[in-house]
Amino acid sequence: MSKKDVMIVTGAGQISMAIARRMGYGKKIVMGDKNIQNAKIIAETMNNAGFDVEPVKMDLSDRDSIKNFIAKAQEYGNIKMFVNGAGVSPSQAPIESILKVDLYGTAVLLEEVGKVIAQGGVGVTISSQSGWRMPQLTAAEDEALAITPAEELLRLDILQKENIKDTLHAYQLANRCNEKRVMAQSVIWGKRGARLNAIAPGIIVTPLAIDEFNGPRGDFYKNMFAKCPAGRPGTADEVANVAELLMSDKGAFITGSTFLIDGGATSSYFYGPLKPEQ
Ligand SMILES: NC(=O)c1ccc[n+]([C@@H]2O[C@H](COP(=O)([O-])OP(=O)(O)OC[C@H]3O[C@@H](n4cnc5c(N)ncnc54)[C@H](O)[C@@H]3O)[C@@H](O)[C@H]2O)c1
Repeated sequence: MSKKDVMIVTGAGQISMAIARRMGYGKKIVMGDKNIQNAKIIAETMNNAGFDVEPVKMDLSDRDSIKNFIAKAQEYGNIKMFVNGAGVSPSQAPIESILKVDLYGTAVLLEEVGKVIAQGGVGVTISSQSGWRMPQLTAAEDEALAITPAEELLRLDILQKENIKDTLHAYQLANRCNEKRVMAQSVIWGKRGARLNAIAPGIIVTPLAIDEFNGPRGDFYKNMFAKCPAGRPGTADEVANVAELLMSDKGAFITGSTFLIDGGATSSYFYGPLKPEQ
C-alpha cells in the first residue's frame, strides 16, 4: 500500500464533512463514527467528489476504540491532520453519556492523537458556544479540567451528578473542559511542532439542528437567530472557513485557542436582547 499523508476525522456529521472537504484534498481521510452507517454515507458522498475516505467504526467514549482507530489510520501513513466533530448534544443523551463522550472521550482523543501527530501537524476539535454561557469556574476548577489525567476526570467534584443541574449544564461543562484540555494539550503538541485549536460554533444548520427547529424547542432556536447580530443560523461551510485559517499556514501562530463562531449569539446573551430575565 502506498503511503499518503493522513487526515483523521471523528464524527461523520456535516461539520466534520465540511472541514474534511476543505482541507482533506490529496490526503487519505480516515473517518470514524460510532454509527458506521453515518461514516459510510459521508465517505460515499466525498469519494464521489474526488476524495479518498475510509469509513471506520469507532467509539469516542472508549480508549481502546480510539487507539484502534488511530492504529488503523497509521497503516495509511503519517497523521498530519486531525478533526474531531464527534459528540452528543443535550437533547440527544443523558448526563452520563454527555460526560463520557463529549468530556472524557475528547480528553482521551486529544491525548492519544498528541502522541502520534506528525511533526508540523494540525488539529481542531469542535466544542460549542454553550461552554461560553456558563459562569466562570474557579481557577482551581479550570486547572483541574485542564490537566487532571483523563482516567480521573470523571471523578472530579464538579462533574458529580449531584452538582450538575441538567443535560445542558453537563454539555456546557464538557465544552469548557474541551477548551481547557486544548490549552494544556497544545503545549504537549508543540513539542512535536504541531498545533491544536478548538472551534466553538453557535447554531449550525445540520440535520440535527433542523430536527430541533421543527421540534418542541423550535421557538427557542428561532428566537436565538432573530436576536443575534447575524440574524440567522450558520452553515457548516462557515465553520470550515475558521478551520481553514487554523489548519493552514496562515494560522501558524495560533495554537491552544478557541474560536467562537456564533453570529454574535453569545454577545447578545450577555449584553443584548438574548440576555435571560433575572
Ligand atoms: N450543529 C450545531 O448547531 C452545533 C453547534 C455547536 C456544536 N456542535 C458540535 O459539533 C459537533 C458536530 O456537530 P454536527 O451538527 O455535525 O453533529 P452530527 O450529530 O451531525 O454529528 C455528530 C456525529 O458524532 C457521532 N457520534 C456520537 N457519539 C459518538 C461516539 N461515542 N463515538 C463516535 N462518534 C459518535 C454521531 O454518530 C454523529 O455521526 C458535535 O460535537 C456537536 O455537539 C454542533
